Amino acid sequence: MSELAHGTLAGLAEIADTGRDARRGGYSRHLWQGPDLELRAWFTERAERLGLGVETDRNGNLWAWWGEPGPDAVVTGSHLDSVPGGGAYDGPLGVVSALEAVARLRASGFTPSRPLAVLVFAEEEGSRFGIACLGSRLLTGGIDAGRARALVDADGVTLAEAAHRAGLDPAHLGVDREALARIGLFIELHVEQGRGLIDLGRPVAVASSILAHGRWRLTVTGQGNHAGATLMGDRRDPLLAAARAVVAVQDEALNHPGARATVGRLEVVPGGTNVIASSVHAWLDARAPTDAATRDLVTAIEAAVGEAVTVNGCSVAVTEESWTGTVTFDAVLVGRFRAVLGGGALVPALPTGAGHDAGVLAASVPSAMLFVRNPTGVSHSPEEFAEVDDCVAGIDALASLLRSLL
Ligand code: GLV
Ligand code: MN
Ligand code: MN
Ligand code: MN
Repeated sequence: MSELAHGTLAGLAEIADTGRDARRGGYSRHLWQGPDLELRAWFTERAERLGLGVETDRNGNLWAWWGEPGPDAVVTGSHLDSVPGGGAYDGPLGVVSALEAVARLRASGFTPSRPLAVLVFAEEEGSRFGIACLGSRLLTGGIDAGRARALVDADGVTLAEAAHRAGLDPAHLGVDREALARIGLFIELHVEQGRGLIDLGRPVAVASSILAHGRWRLTVTGQGNHAGATLMGDRRDPLLAAARAVVAVQDEALNHPGARATVGRLEVVPGGTNVIASSVHAWLDARAPTDAATRDLVTAIEAAVGEAVTVNGCSVAVTEESWTGTVTFDAVLVGRFRAVLGGGALVPALPTGAGHDAGVLAASVPSAMLFVRNPTGVSHSPEEFAEVDDCVAGIDALASLLRSLL
């Protein structure tokens, strides 16, 4: 990342060592744990150096204000947390670009006629507490506060306890109408996570829509037993059943046009080399072009998985953990942004399969997204990338949009 060190993306270079994960590769930056706290301090210091006033809302989202907070503010930002072993750009590129766009506007002597905030959302990836876009869901009331307080991390720490340790009042977690009322409009710049811009040969796009998506927990139950003393024919092994379930998930996704279904995380209980497991938790991420298609897909997966696990004498229970319906970004805003950026031939509108805080906010306030080309086409992986020139094109586009809105 040395070529970033002195240019407009110096912010990315400054955080390049924060939260590196030597075991997995890439970065592991999870809500209110060491690296996330360091990134919050870094953001605060950087925003204050720019002359912005930083505050934390009741849900742990960070706001950096140019001018007095709201109402009808133009708000832009993204997130600083990551998936386990994630890339350097998913989230931070939007935050660094927002700060850089503001820095440019300030340096040019521009005076905004409405407030502007750079917003950093908490726990966008859901890597610590399991629910993606937790900060934006809490802010908008997209998750029940009581349910959120009771979420637990891998060490059994509840969100309420973690929030308390982070200096928040857990009783105040949840919908924040005052903060929401300040947002006139939200723009999130993000590295593209697929191959859309590679195929089009363009550096930047506006987002048109986000696939419906959700997370489900599949709990497969069998019979815990001794690995040496239990004959192969006498077993009810839930890990074997879960293996069949994972294949069934793939088969159903292949049967549903445009669908994507993934099991990327398993928890084997109790998890000993010489122990036949007693249960296995498998997390399903399912996405499809419409709400109905996604519901159909998950219903088909539930049936197929229910059948698959019986081969090993096991049973499965399925629980929905989160759901986001299809997001269609405001056509007027998308059209206006493309016009500001030079027209449709230069700035395509692209759908995406990845979830974002902008998608959650879109249900409450006009929202839009800018994507920056990722030449590897790979994301949620250390291979995620963006060329400096494309990042600069993203910042140029964001600064133009902000100028046109302020
Ligand atoms: C978040 O990045 C998601 O789409 O899973
Ligand atoms: Mn992500
Ligand atoms: Mn992201
Ligand atoms: Mn995301």
